[in-house]
Amino acid sequence: MKILILNGSPRINGNTSYAMKTLADGITNNTANEVEILNITRLKVGGCVACDVCQKNGGDCVMKDDTKAVIDKIYAADAVIFGSPVYWWGISSQLKAVLDKFHSRTEMFKKQNKKLGIFAVGEDAITGKQYDLINTQFDCVCEYLGWEKAFGYFYSANEPGELSKSEESAKELSEAWKLL
Ligand SMILES: Cc1cc2nc3c(=O)[nH]c(=O)nc-3n(C[C@H](O)[C@H](O)[C@H](O)COP(=O)(O)O)c2cc1C
Repeated sequence: MKILILNGSPRINGNTSYAMKTLADGITNNTANEVEILNITRLKVGGCVACDVCQKNGGDCVMKDDTKAVIDKIYAADAVIFGSPVYWWGISSQLKAVLDKFHSRTEMFKKQNKKLGIFAVGEDAITGKQYDLINTQFDCVCEYLGWEKAFGYFYSANEPGELSKSEESAKELSEAWKLL
């Protein structure tokens, strides 16, 4: 099984990157699954401009950036995991641009049975609305595409290194492979 993890944080040693590594290590230490981490913030994926060329050319975004390469990887994966810092009550814009580009393959994605996981780290307490908003957004994405939502994990941490002090989140993330 191919698992693709999309990192939506620009901080190299931030909380999202830590969470992602913990999750990926859990998978590689316990399964034979293939894991790839893609740092979306180091790629160029422009915002969808609704040109709809993709609707007539078999599902390829024609922007001269990394969109097609990223969407091809998502298409080839059995499970896709989004990892994001919370930015303004939502996921980071870099990751949202990738989600918007699902438009190029919507009908093809609907024919696939993928699993999707989402985790996000925000500064606010875990009772903050942002976590519910993000979780609900991905519930809707999965319902629309007919994909299975494997997990939605949300953590409160701000400074780089803060999340790594939480044993509870480390356990949850390192055992996420059981849900994929
Ligand atoms: C532009 C920006 C917007 C943010 N908006 C929110 C927010 O709406 N809610 C929140 O809880 N934290 C917010 N934060 C804080 C980050 O989510 C928090 O620092 C998180 O730990 C960053 O993750 P990272 O270390 O992986 O980059 C924001 C941070 C930035 C830079």
